[in-house]
Amino acid sequence: MLEGKSVSTGSKPYVVVLGNEKGGTGKSTISMHLIVQLMKMGFRVGSMDLDARQGTLTRYVTNREKVGLKQCDKLLMPQHRPIPRSENRSLELAEKDEENRFTAAFEELSENHFIVIDTPGNDTYLSRLAHSYADTLITPINDSFIDLDLLVNVEQMEGKIQDLKPSTYAESVWEQKKKRLMRDKVTVDWIVVRNRLSNLYARNKEEVTKVLSLLAPRLGFRIASGFCERVIFRELFLSGLTLLDLEDMGKRLTMSQVAARQELRNLLKAFNLSGLVAKMQNKDAAPTEKKAS
Ligand SMILES: Nc1ncnc2c1ncn2[C@@H]1O[C@H](COP(=O)(O)OP(=O)(O)OP(=O)(O)O)[C@@H](O)[C@H]1O
Ligand SMILES: [Mg+2]
Repeated sequence: MLEGKSVSTGSKPYVVVLGNEKGGTGKSTISMHLIVQLMKMGFRVGSMDLDARQGTLTRYVTNREKVGLKQCDKLLMPQHRPIPRSENRSLELAEKDEENRFTAAFEELSENHFIVIDTPGNDTYLSRLAHSYADTLITPINDSFIDLDLLVNVEQMEGKIQDLKPSTYAESVWEQKKKRLMRDKVTVDWIVVRNRLSNLYARNKEEVTKVLSLLAPRLGFRIASGFCERVIFRELFLSGLTLLDLEDMGKRLTMSQVAARQELRNLLKAFNLSGLVAKMQNKDAAPTEKKAS
């Protein structure tokens, strides 16, 4: 995989958006693990939950504060903001309202090195807005043609996969990338990451790999090595912990947990952090907030 653009944006935070228009592919799970990983590397991290109705990321952070911190007082906390959707009945006013909520929260989080934004698994104004603020967009997909159909309308004819037309989501990403470029002169780095991979060999898995690598240059994304299906990614939610916190709690990692940690590090390798690390070494490496706000 090609190296990403350098994570050094002057005084602005680097914005990572987790997005796709399909539910249940791992956006919130990967958001939380990425947040903790970045904080453990010494970065200050702000987080936004644009899926405030479901509120998975917000609940994860709240559980961390209410339960996790009682189990381990070393836990780092992000500066978190849930952004509820507007209830205004006028579409125009609702969008204006949501834009104001988004930009106000964004401003409040602007002292952080990173802002990680979790979005809902459907098309909303807030989600599109967030995509247009991304430096890096991470799209997790599960290993099936149903999820691949989210990127392109896949058709099979005479046993071959054909007619790979960009789907509505891919077109929407294209639109938001254009907005980002025109507004800020910034290109969005789009990374597709496979999640919940099975350890077993499957023909389907091989086909998905083939189609993804055909699509990457056409749709303009990079492919990051993915995450296997692992219990550890889902069993710590109630305590707000992640596998990255286990060692701080004096626990020894199992083989599977060590492998999961490596998967996360591999995703981080997709970011070129050298610029930001150098900047931090030169001046501000203040620790992330201890308490969620
Ligand atoms: N690598 C993994 N291994 C095992 N379980 C996982 C993995 N990634 C995610 N899960 C589980 O898959 C389910 C969906 O994950 P998650 O809620 O993060 O997806 P999402 O994309 O945020 O969903 P939504 O679109 O509904 O917000 C959850 O039960 C989560 O615990
Ligand atoms: Mg979610």
